[in-house]
Amino acid sequence: MPVTVTPLHKHFMAEIGGVDLTRPVAPETFAEIRAAFDRHAILVFHGQPVSDTQQVEFSALFGPVFTTTRYHRPQEVQDRRKEMSPITNIDHEGRILPPDDDRRMHARANQLWHTDNSFKHVPALCSLLSAREIPGTGGNTEFADMRAAYDALPEARKQEIDRLIVEHSIFHSRAKIGFTDYSDGARRELPPVQQVLVRELPESGRKALYIAAHASHVIGWPVEKGRQLIAELMEFATQPEFVYSHRWRAGDLIVWDNRCTMHRATPYAEMTERRVLYRTTVSDEINSVERQSMLSPRKAGAAHHA
Ligand code: OGA
Ligand code: MN
Repeated sequence: MPVTVTPLHKHFMAEIGGVDLTRPVAPETFAEIRAAFDRHAILVFHGQPVSDTQQVEFSALFGPVFTTTRYHRPQEVQDRRKEMSPITNIDHEGRILPPDDDRRMHARANQLWHTDNSFKHVPALCSLLSAREIPGTGGNTEFADMRAAYDALPEARKQEIDRLIVEHSIFHSRAKIGFTDYSDGARRELPPVQQVLVRELPESGRKALYIAAHASHVIGWPVEKGRQLIAELMEFATQPEFVYSHRWRAGDLIVWDNRCTMHRATPYAEMTERRVLYRTTVSDEINSVERQSMLSPRKAGAAHHA
């Protein structure tokens, strides 16, 4: 079966055909998928009713898969492979979560534009999300292309931001939705991290804005000034021209490049309709600031151009 690549948007997103993810993916097939990923940043596969193991094995072709058990109840964790993150309003016994369940907080946080794991020192390369049950209406996921957004910035803006470093923290994004009540222990477990504001992608050489709900402020700048810059860039980068809205069908699997795209969940009737997806997350190789200083040691960390 030849692999087909059909672009879905003028900047990014492609639908991949001719691949069966319920069977082992041959190296030469994966090479084509990876090339499409590096070019289009987000790939959509339809009709892929993958098991946990099949999803984990496909994910592992991109790199090391994170184990993400942190926010989920023990029983759910026992039921699934430890690489699987449930993205759902259903508990492990198949019931819709009560309105005050703290797992609903994550659903709300997902409605902010973000990129996965930017609050970790070594952030995510990509995430893979597979749809098992989808509501009749709503619950789309929206994606935005941070390479196209960067390219469209005025030259002076690019120069201003190219070498900036930003502090990211999970607690920054949680505070935006009203959650501030974390113990010192919880805060110590996920300390703030630094990421470059503009990433250069090694495979394509393209540059991309690296921003997210977790992005707090610019290192070395007054906090408010940095927040203002991040807010302006977020607004610029999520204009309709850079955005694609995916209407899910059960059996869809999407892989997105967290280095150069953002995404967000959108509302649906979450008290009455079921939505069940499972995410696996693949780690990048290195922190983004460390990568930059390896590539250009003299310039790294400087807040201006020589
Ligand atoms: C995620 C995420 C959005 C959605 O899985 O990382 O942000 O629409 N999901 O469920
Ligand atoms: Mn996400």
